[in-house]
Amino acid sequence: MTTLLDALQRPLRDLRISVTDRCNFRCVYCMPKEIYGRGYQFLPKEQLLTFEELGRLARVFASLGTSKVRLTGGEPLMRRGLEILVADLAKIDGLEVTLTTNGALLVERAEALRDAGLDRITVSLDALDDAVFKCMNDVDFPVAKVLEGIVAAERVGLPVKINMVVRRGLNESAIVPMARYFRERGHILRFIEYMDVGHTNGWRLDDVVPAREIVSLIDAELPIEPVEANYPGEVAERWRYRDGSGEIGVIASVTQAFCKDCTRARLSAEGKVYTCLFATAGVDLRDRLRAGATDDELAAAITDVWSARTDRYSELRSAETAGLHKIEMSYIGG
Ligand SMILES: C[S@@+](CC[C@H](N)C(=O)[O-])C[C@H]1O[C@@H](n2cnc3c(N)ncnc32)[C@H](O)[C@@H]1O
Ligand code: SF4
Repeated sequence: MTTLLDALQRPLRDLRISVTDRCNFRCVYCMPKEIYGRGYQFLPKEQLLTFEELGRLARVFASLGTSKVRLTGGEPLMRRGLEILVADLAKIDGLEVTLTTNGALLVERAEALRDAGLDRITVSLDALDDAVFKCMNDVDFPVAKVLEGIVAAERVGLPVKINMVVRRGLNESAIVPMARYFRERGHILRFIEYMDVGHTNGWRLDDVVPAREIVSLIDAELPIEPVEANYPGEVAERWRYRDGSGEIGVIASVTQAFCKDCTRARLSAEGKVYTCLFATAGVDLRDRLRAGATDDELAAAITDVWSARTDRYSELRSAETAGLHKIEMSYIGG
């Protein structure tokens, strides 16, 4: 197996593919309505990579050592026929295929996704209380429908994890109830520090609830202790309940950056490769694909991008970098 290393000796192990920049939610920390409201220009269909193009690129990435693909967006389940792509990716030897979704359309799609060969699923949910959740998704979407989606995924045998973004003043009150709820149901819940991705969410450091604070809030009610990482480069710091009833994860990308172990590349819906979530520019692969590039030529282009990679934005985060015109998460794929 090839191991492609970047300039800081980090291998290219994971690929996140944004299959659409559209979403049926308007989470205030991701696609605020003031920007993504009526009149916002999403990518036209012909600019999106086709499933065939995505399958080809995934194979080239796999030949360079990528062992995991995560489909994301925007909301990936808004891309029509996504199961067709999942089925194609699932055929690639040694490639794990996963998906991150807001769960809104999961009840209807869980079985088809499982049948297509999806390995695992992550569902995002920021609160159990409708009023709080609706304040965050900003489209009046009820908690119950997401919970039904989680149950549907579970029922068809898909391993499920839950992601919760914590934003000061909005959903800190949901931390302990969410921990309790998912502990009882045996799902790993991962708390994510609110990040300064993109430049439309008006991020301020004051809005971040640090991982340490999240851990101590939970520990006070449901005692927890740290656990070793499953593998080097695992983004979530693991904690387990002392009574043996399961574990949680904390993704402290702001207060404890993990750039030194970052093995992820990102492919935008229109085929640009980004080597950091906080990038300001990507390298286009779609034009090369559509101009008839061979697999070797595509591999060479990806190799060039990855070998030159020196990004460690989160470790360098400072007043200056906060003002950069960064790419939006919904476009680059969260
Ligand atoms: C961009 S979303 C795309 C997939 C899908 N729409 C979803 O919400 O799961 C992927 C993940 O990024 C998280 N996210 C979005 N904006 C974020 C921010 N500013 N800080 C931290 N996490 C964020 C979301 O909560 C979600 O778990
Ligand atoms: S976090 Fe996911 S669900 Fe929320 S607006 Fe962003 S892409 Fe949509």
